[in-house]
Amino acid sequence: MWGPEGLDEVEAELLGPPEELKGRDVLELGAGAAQCSRWLAAQGARPVALDISHRQLQHALRIGGAFPLVCADAGALPFADGSFDLACSAYGALPFVADPRLVLREVHRVLRPGGRLVFSVTHPIRWAFPDEPGPEGLSVSGSYFDRTPYVEQDDAGRAVYVEHHRTLGDRVRDVVSSGFRLVDLVEPEWPAWNTTEWGGWSPLRGGLIPGTAVFVCERD
Ligand SMILES: C[S@@+](CC[C@H](N)C(=O)[O-])C[C@H]1O[C@@H](n2cnc3c(N)ncnc32)[C@H](O)[C@@H]1O
Repeated sequence: MWGPEGLDEVEAELLGPPEELKGRDVLELGAGAAQCSRWLAAQGARPVALDISHRQLQHALRIGGAFPLVCADAGALPFADGSFDLACSAYGALPFVADPRLVLREVHRVLRPGGRLVFSVTHPIRWAFPDEPGPEGLSVSGSYFDRTPYVEQDDAGRAVYVEHHRTLGDRVRDVVSSGFRLVDLVEPEWPAWNTTEWGGWSPLRGGLIPGTAVFVCERD
């Protein structure tokens, strides 16, 4: 699943036709509980699920799957050059790092020539709106161009959640300057069957503004 709209890889085929996933080495970045890797393994691919959070990987372990789980920072990948055919990420790692080019350059390094990276992030336009599912989430409340990160702190003033904003142009430049060719930029539309409200995502807002941006990139 690429995002809350419900676009899944069976429908989107952004990693290529499912029958061609068999035997492919796939790196999942910011895997969380590794649901994407579990699906990839079911297609016959050989996924590696990577996350910086040991706790998330414990959930992945509990749910199960016969593929490696790696606890590491996506900006310092513990793999040799040219180890993977494909890389993917559904809202993993990239929105949470100050310089996503460090991650993209690392992914470029560990992909084989011609390898593909597909990643989804919150659509940058959302930054200008309140993160609310109702009508209050439809009026611009801040600058789309303000790159000041969103930070939540604990009582001791330590950052416990940080999200970084990149404009659409920033993201395109990040991808291209890291050595990738941008093949597609998918903005999933909110489908009629999806009546679920989840955080700031809702049928109301989804029908009016995009919520997710999926970047399809290839290593030349
Ligand atoms: C919003 S969750 C997405 C999880 C999963 N991909 C999904 O679709 O449910 C973001 C994940 O990225 C991970 N993450 C954040 N920064 C990271 C980094 N620098 N390196 C690796 N993983 C990171 C978090 O620990 C978290 O599990």
